[in-house]
Amino acid sequence: MGEKKKEILIAKADIDKRVVELAEAIFRDYEGKELIVIGILKGAFIFMADLIRQLRCPCKVDFVRLASYGTGTVSSGSIMITKDIETPIKGKDVLIVEDIVDTGLTLSFLVARLKERDPRSLKVCVFLDKKERRKIPFGADYVGFDIPDHFVVGYGLDFNEMYRFLPDICVIKE
Ligand code: IMP
Ligand code: MG
Repeated sequence: MGEKKKEILIAKADIDKRVVELAEAIFRDYEGKELIVIGILKGAFIFMADLIRQLRCPCKVDFVRLASYGTGTVSSGSIMITKDIETPIKGKDVLIVEDIVDTGLTLSFLVARLKERDPRSLKVCVFLDKKERRKIPFGADYVGFDIPDHFVVGYGLDFNEMYRFLPDICVIKE
């Protein structure tokens, strides 16, 4: 597979600064509570690792893996949980952490499924938000950066499983 041309959209220094701000906002909202942070695999793993280390409230972590039928850069309508969380969340304060919200289908699905388990509260923190791409209305409670409709990689985000390791958020140039 040939290397694609990439251009930096958000540099690591700006990512680091924004993660600290997000963690502070989350800390203010959850001070004194014990938070359960749920990351969506695989894309959120780097962002979540950075975020929880900046959070000053104690938290437990868990992960969920979702699959959507359809491949490539467009997600399709039907989604399923292929690896569920292992932590009971009934009566708990839960924060979902995701790399990016695009059409909104993935997060709407997961929020609906987790709400069925009666958490005390359920909020969503996304690192990136492509608001103009929504197919259904979805608003995250904490957003790192709003970005235009470009396909981005790095900081955990992939293109065909490549580029997750890049420290910056980059746009792929075709
Ligand atoms: P949604 O269900 O359309 O909101 O899609 C969210 C999922 O699509 C994310 O968790 C990503 O895995 C993937 N995705 C959407 N846009 C991008 C992108 O620009 N780069 C990498 N993955 C993306
Ligand atoms: Mg993802």
